[in-house]
Amino acid sequence: MGFSFFFRDVNEMDLIIQYALPELINNTRINVWSAGCSEGQEPYTLAIKLRENMGYFAFKKVKIFASDIDNTSENFGNIIRNARYNGETIKRIPPEILSKYFTPINEGAEYQLVSEIKEAIEFQKHDLLSYQEIRSAMNVIMCKNVLLHFHEDQRVEVIKMFARALVEKGFLIMERTQEMPKETAHLFEQVTTMGQVFRKK
Ligand SMILES: C[S@@+](CC[C@H](N)C(=O)[O-])C[C@H]1O[C@@H](n2cnc3c(N)ncnc32)[C@H](O)[C@@H]1O
Repeated sequence: MGFSFFFRDVNEMDLIIQYALPELINNTRINVWSAGCSEGQEPYTLAIKLRENMGYFAFKKVKIFASDIDNTSENFGNIIRNARYNGETIKRIPPEILSKYFTPINEGAEYQLVSEIKEAIEFQKHDLLSYQEIRSAMNVIMCKNVLLHFHEDQRVEVIKMFARALVEKGFLIMERTQEMPKETAHLFEQVTTMGQVFRKK
């Protein structure tokens, strides 16, 4: 259930860069929620994408709140704080990104993320089915490959909770195959037909 890897759903990440970033770039702070973040591959990939597009100084305004129910034997919080990854999970990282943002350790058996990216992420354990937002004033919420595990009525309640957590005109991004339920469609407008990118009305 915690399956994830770096540079998964790059199309969705690029849509955030294309549609959300131009509107947020002048904010003094940009709050992002990666909901159901697994071991950090998703929030770290998004952080790298944002850093690449924003540059060193503007990227300091970004805070990514990463959360997961984390009911596995690993401790996602520790994995994310250590930010050391290996094997399959890093395979799709483009080589120039790997060399720019990761340092090989243990003779290349593991890769350590640089602190600039690490420091942009804050992990907290959280159950989406509590229907409680982790905080308000979110500018972007990314929730991918999570809602498909829930029943339809649970999806509706989680998306209503996302709407409460977002600022007005804040963005919600889901994976390509996750449709907006009709019960919550009135809360959002779809930003592009290229993916499931919505803006809170
Ligand atoms: C398939 S992974 C997707 C990870 C990442 N979002 C991605 O797209 O690569 C699904 C994640 O949802 C988390 N999850 C499942 N139920 C949850 C819940 N009720 N609250 C928060 N996270 C949950 C799982 O622990 C797992 O890490």
